[in-house]
Amino acid sequence: MAPPRRKSRGGRLFREALDAHPGPTLLVSRAGTVLHVNAAAEELLGLSGSRFGLRPVAALPRTGVALAELVARSVAERVSTQGEIDLGPPKGKVVATAAPLLKRSGVRAVVVRLREAQGRIDLEALAAGLAHEIKNPLAGLKGAAELMGDELAAGSPLRVYTELIAREAKRVDGLVQSLLDLTRPLPLELRPENVHAVIDDVLLLAKGLLPRGVAFERRFDPSLPEVELDRDSVQQVLLNLVKNAAEAMAGRQGAVVIETGIAPGMRVRVRGRTRQLLRIAVIDQGPGLPEGVELFTPFATDKPRGTGLGLVISRRIAEAHGGRLELRDRRDGGGAEAELLLPL
Ligand SMILES: Nc1ncnc2c1ncn2[C@@H]1O[C@H](COP(=O)(O)OP(=O)(O)O)[C@@H](O)[C@H]1O
Ligand SMILES: [Mg+2]
Repeated sequence: MAPPRRKSRGGRLFREALDAHPGPTLLVSRAGTVLHVNAAAEELLGLSGSRFGLRPVAALPRTGVALAELVARSVAERVSTQGEIDLGPPKGKVVATAAPLLKRSGVRAVVVRLREAQGRIDLEALAAGLAHEIKNPLAGLKGAAELMGDELAAGSPLRVYTELIAREAKRVDGLVQSLLDLTRPLPLELRPENVHAVIDDVLLLAKGLLPRGVAFERRFDPSLPEVELDRDSVQQVLLNLVKNAAEAMAGRQGAVVIETGIAPGMRVRVRGRTRQLLRIAVIDQGPGLPEGVELFTPFATDKPRGTGLGLVISRRIAEAHGGRLELRDRRDGGGAEAELLLPL
């Protein structure tokens, strides 16, 4: 992209907003030219006073090559990319996130945010550490409750307590596992898969979750080709979506519809190739989306025993595939529709 010839009002306002923002941020063109370095980034990168604009990002001292690589990757793959960048002592390492600003025909520019890794609590590490610390004592608790249960006579009224401990321990274990899933990097094993076979497996598993009077209805597009995906993690996404749909149908009658097809008019660039998107929709006839629940936010749930992690984890998996996950109310009244889009 050529540098903007005339500075529009919006562009100037955008730069001023960046300068006012306390987080170190750079705006880089899709060709790798630095369009703006905000004040915090100038300070962090030791560029104070020197206007670095309109030079290649690769020319930035120390960090340039690594940043240029991140930017190039997020332009080519049209996804946010993250990497650690060493500023050397005394500043140490920072985490850089390059997020593409997309327009219809491609990437317009890339916003690079730098986050100081030192002196702050690394929430991901904290969650992973906490989860790890909880797992072992929890297994001990569960084991002890089981042993205690074995000692009790078959009809003992105390059994409710040992069963309660086992049940709650299992719940916490699931929660901790989800936290771990959320903080772990996602190594995907992509293989060509028959999408409908992948979905059918999930529906078989999930059948027991449906309330009485509710059935699955498959609306499959038989012409779909095989799709490169990580079977286990995509099944995890579908299970989360189908489970949410089943829970939304509690106390109601009707169908949970699973619809497949090629998303009309949509394309993404993944690893240098333009691809169409496979669409898998899970449509329910429940109450629709709740008000006041910040969807796709950890622990945001309106269920007494919910975790609010299902959607977060699922979106992360979709994005790791170069795809997307959305949840919306159905246009034609009643119910919600979850839409998983994966590059074909
Ligand atoms: N199909 C749906 N219909 C209505 N609300 C939904 C649906 N799917 C998700 N939600 C809302 O999103 C919230 C978060 O979902 P999720 O991340 O799966 O966590 P959980 O199911 O544990 O609450 C739910 O608590 C619910 O409020
Ligand atoms: Mg859920």
